[in-house]
Order: sequence, then structure tokens, then C-alpha cells
Amino acid sequence: MLNLLKHPLLTHKLTLLRRKETNTKDFRETLEEIAGLMAFEITRDLPLKNVTVETPVGICSTQELARDVVLIPVLRAGLGMVNGISNLIPSARVGHIGMYRDHDTLEPNTYYSKFPDNLPDAVVMVLDPMLATGGSASAAISFLKENGAKTIKLVCVVGAPEGVERIRKDHPDVQIYLAGLDEKLNDNGYIVPGLGDAGDRLFGTK
Ligand code: PRP
Ligand code: URA
Repeated sequence: MLNLLKHPLLTHKLTLLRRKETNTKDFRETLEEIAGLMAFEITRDLPLKNVTVETPVGICSTQELARDVVLIPVLRAGLGMVNGISNLIPSARVGHIGMYRDHDTLEPNTYYSKFPDNLPDAVVMVLDPMLATGGSASAAISFLKENGAKTIKLVCVVGAPEGVERIRKDHPDVQIYLAGLDEKLNDNGYIVPGLGDAGDRLFGTK
């Protein structure tokens, strides 16, 4: 299911991310802030468990998170979303999956992975700012499922209809979160209007 998040601050910051004059420092800071703002919505359905704590004044029956959260940034660009979310969920463990899209075939290639051992029990959030053809995200999710992940949320910033459709078809159990749903893909598989190459803009490699 697609969750298109709407908030004036998200819209404002996404505009800054899209603007081609935005430099690497501002891009990095803004992507982190967007991820932090998205965290509020993507965690809305996290289950709670009852606990009792002692305050300086008395006993309080309250609640805390019942399930572990694991963040899986898709390298490279997903790295730019980790801090924004882990600042709010400091207990979250972080795994990594390295994936690049072949420039000619647009097919994803996996070159690295390292996951924490609590994947099967955790709420797993796959982080990647761009959902273009959906090939990378779909392959990352399949790989995580093969490694035991059961509850998976896909957290992207900008998506194309083609990518959303691909995830819906390949992984109907996965919730998709976006801050912007754009018009289409161009012939090179870039999101239009999008924001360009997220990895290059984040790390200043172009
Ligand atoms: C980008 C982006 C996604 C992927 C999206 O990564 O960060 O991972 O492309 O495209 P898709 O939906 O068509 O698969 P890229 O392959 O450019 O790697 P990079 O982050 O290392 O630059
Ligand atoms: N990857 C990006 O970084 N940008 C796009 O528009 C598509 C894929």
C-alpha cells in the first residue's frame, strides 16, 4: 500500500532537495531532516507493550515500543536517511545492503550486505530516497525476506508510478512511504522531475 505523506515542512524541504542549485551540504542536511519528519508517520503503527516505571514522584503504568526496529539503507543514497530516523529511534539497529543500478540495463546488482541477527522479529525499514523502476527496492526486499525479514516498510522520498507499481506487484505485503510521487521516468530511468542522481548529489561525486 502507498502512503504519500503530506506536510508543509516536508513539501518545503523536498523543494529544496529538488532544486538543482542546492549544494552537497544542504542536500545532505535536508535529506536527513526529511527522513526525520517521515519517521513520525512511518512509525505510527508500531506496537506498544505495557510497562511500569518509577518516576521521581511515583509509579507510572505506561507503554514502550514492543518490537525492535532495523534500518536498512540501500547504499549509497539510503545512507543519507539513517541519522534522521535513528535520532528518533536510537535503539534501532542498522544493516546495510549495497546495490547499484546498471546504467544500460537498469537492472540492480547487489555487491554488499550485512544484517543484524534480529531481522525476523524486527520491523525492518528499507531506506532509499529514490524509487524509480523499483528494481533496486524490489531486489533489496526479496533479499531481506530470504534473510528472514517478515515485516518490511519501504521508505523513499521521491517515487515514480512505475516503481510504486513494481513494489505493489512484487511485494504486496510491503507498505510504501513517499514524500513525493512524480510524473514518470525518462529514457535513462531517471525520475521526472525528480531530483537527479541522489547518490551523486549526497556525496558530491559529480
Ligand atoms: C539509485 C537510487 C536507488 C536506485 C533507484 O541508486 O539510490 O537505489 O538508483 O532506481 P531503481 O528504482 O530504478 O532501481 P544507484 O543505482 O544510482 O546507486 P548509488 O546510490 O550508489 O549511486
Ligand atoms: N536513481 C536516482 O538517484 N535518481 C533517479 O531519478 C533514478 C534513480
